[in-house]
Amino acid sequence: MTATVIDGKAFAAKVRGQVGEHVAKLKEEHGITPGLAVVLVGEDPASQVYVKSKGKMTVEVGMKSVEHRMDETVSEADLLAMVQKLNDDPTIHGILVQLPLPGHLNSDLVINSIDPAKDVDGFHISNVGLLGTGQKSMVPCTPLGSLMMLRDHHGSLSGLNAVVIGRSNIVGKPMAQLLLGDSCTVTIAHSRTKDLPSVVRQADIVVAAVGRPQTVLGDWIKPGATVIDVGINRIDKPEGGTRLVGDADYESCAAVAGAITPVPGGVGPMTIACLLANTLTACCRSNGLTEPEGLTA
Ligand code: GUN
Repeated sequence: MTATVIDGKAFAAKVRGQVGEHVAKLKEEHGITPGLAVVLVGEDPASQVYVKSKGKMTVEVGMKSVEHRMDETVSEADLLAMVQKLNDDPTIHGILVQLPLPGHLNSDLVINSIDPAKDVDGFHISNVGLLGTGQKSMVPCTPLGSLMMLRDHHGSLSGLNAVVIGRSNIVGKPMAQLLLGDSCTVTIAHSRTKDLPSVVRQADIVVAAVGRPQTVLGDWIKPGATVIDVGINRIDKPEGGTRLVGDADYESCAAVAGAITPVPGGVGPMTIACLLANTLTACCRSNGLTEPEGLTA
């Protein structure tokens, strides 16, 4: 079998188009422009690229984009004061503090100082609890984008066996909660899982969020299963230079799977699209307006 390639780039463009239409309607009918603020501490090159791309796409869908850059050595008090200022700003509906933060800053403290209603990353402890109990919440962007692609490909996910490889707070755990919410039978596997290949072989849906390049191999995959590859790793090419690869070994997995997301062009573009969707959702909720359909969990 050769897997269907799930085109995350095209899907993300569609989601951004839907967000843009809603934003235009919000402006026209209610005079409201959703606003997203990103706080970037330090000079990490990968974070800078990511933040620039977020800012560009925020403006493209018609939202207000604000970027606050703070020095690597910023004090926790000054960062908390910045978050508080954004919490109090009625033109800002979404706040994202780019992670990782420098070591002297307590990430949990900073994230939990964000107004949960503006927490478009879905990392605040209140949103984590709401998601875990099946209540309306802000949902982390990468798992939300993965869920959207799965729903689009499968229709109903009810009763399917899902194996999430990775137990991070940002991807693995919320992904498992979302799949459970869609009535999958969910296993969370991780670095200590015994006989990981045989666990993965039970899965109709495999979410690879391992954090190591090309780890999930084709002979771990049940024929016809769907592979969602959350990894983004830069590796050296034998002929020199580098390339991006996922946490799944694309060639061998694509030969067995029914469907697979490529890297790049799979989950990655969906993450930013879902950040915009979450900002729109937060804006609608805070104004007591009907939230867009199909853009939330
Ligand atoms: N760093 C890398 N990805 C993310 C993300 O989705 N949110 C935040 N806040 N930081 C990140």
